[in-house]
Amino acid sequence: MTNLDRAREDFPALQGSPGHPPPAYLDSACMSLVPDSVLAAMAEYYREFPGCAGRSLHRFAEEVGHRYEGARDAFARFLGAPDRDGVVFVRNATEAINVVGNGLDWQAGDRIIVTDQEHNSNLVLWQRLAKERGVHVEALELPDGGRWDGDRLERMLRPRPRLVSVFHTSNLDGRSLPIREIADRVHDAGGQLLVDGCQAAPHQPVDLARLGVDFYALSLHKMLGPTGTGLLVAPSATLAELRPLIVGGETVEWTTLTDHRLRPPPHRFEAGLQNYAGVLGARAGIEYLERVGREEVRAHDAALNARVTSALEDEPRVHVLGPAAPSERPSIFGFTVDGVDPNDAALFLDAGHRVLVRSGMHCVHSWYAARGLSGNVRASFYLYNSTEDADALVRGVRELIERIPAPAVPTPTGTSAAKRPSAARPRPSRRGAGSSAAAARSARPRGRAGRGRAGSGAGSG
Ligand SMILES: Cc1ncc(COP(=O)(O)O)c(C=O)c1O
Repeated sequence: MTNLDRAREDFPALQGSPGHPPPAYLDSACMSLVPDSVLAAMAEYYREFPGCAGRSLHRFAEEVGHRYEGARDAFARFLGAPDRDGVVFVRNATEAINVVGNGLDWQAGDRIIVTDQEHNSNLVLWQRLAKERGVHVEALELPDGGRWDGDRLERMLRPRPRLVSVFHTSNLDGRSLPIREIADRVHDAGGQLLVDGCQAAPHQPVDLARLGVDFYALSLHKMLGPTGTGLLVAPSATLAELRPLIVGGETVEWTTLTDHRLRPPPHRFEAGLQNYAGVLGARAGIEYLERVGREEVRAHDAALNARVTSALEDEPRVHVLGPAAPSERPSIFGFTVDGVDPNDAALFLDAGHRVLVRSGMHCVHSWYAARGLSGNVRASFYLYNSTEDADALVRGVRELIERIPAPAVPTPTGTSAAKRPSAARPRPSRRGAGSSAAAARSARPRGRAGRGRAGSGAGSG
């Protein structure tokens, strides 16, 4: 038995209790579950050495300082960071992107290139800079079905962009971009590359020195860490060119009443007392990931995704987003069911099958709005998911199809999108068209009725 086979036992949220079987948690793209070792590391801090690093000289402070900097070393190794002083602790990827965006010295007319499939965390800030600083934001249109067209990017790289900011793996359809190739092209054109690694780092080995990116942002709560923990990683010399977003205690070497000198990176970016328990917990999270093996995680995700994809392949009403091959979107199975509102589907799957998925626009409103779509359902896989979880999802979707009549207008092809090579444009669910909401309601246990669409998650990542 491998560490991966045993993994499920280590996650308290998956243990269930008599009469309450554990759920099939398929929402790790939003936030992963934490193993006991992460909880223990956080408790250890509060129980054994609850001090503040870098301030007091007593033993608690010494111990936490030692462990906090040790965690930085561990994250640098884990990600192949160019140097350990380029690892900055932040609350999440959103904050990491904001540190970069607010830290660069923008000139009016500077160009920023994103893709047309970015999370709001990698879009809204650029739009604000456009309004306030006169930069130009341009979107690279990604071909449907997960294909990559490097020439399309190449054409946008002249004249020189100041910054290209793209996802590594999409939270919408699970596709990954060829980051090394993009880094080379962007650098040849004289720009810098920021990569949103939120959905990549938890699921595959990441070697930043090899990828050659300028900035890498990620959330540790998507990779077994506690909530509100994330990283910005960059060469420390690159970080030194950024103006810190927040300044104050811990960021300075000295102050007078009129002046101060900032500490070098990473400390100038870590203002105020830090989330020591969170950082130490997150370190335990990556140690857990290392024991399981990131290649193993990727293969495991892909196997579960393939199982669901092939089970639903012959359902003409099910349409899958992104690449046709599950191996090219291993951690994410995003889909729509003709005639079923995605939020109703999510409520139905939870209430009727204990399957926890995400529905809505997954914080990529721009992508759905451009296609006139109301959203989709997203099941995301991680190392603690089992084949039973995958089968529960399939059963739930099949029951949904049985209970809710097909819409009056059939699909254009009559075949499942899972089989079509270009499956990036699922049919929109027709709100209220069938008995979708009623079926979801009828499967919902008492006391949940009030939740309705409030839990749609349309506004969050
Ligand atoms: C691709 C991507 N980028 C950015 C984010 C934002 O992450 P956070 O809310 O942890 O900052 C998410 C969250 O789902 C994401 O999936």
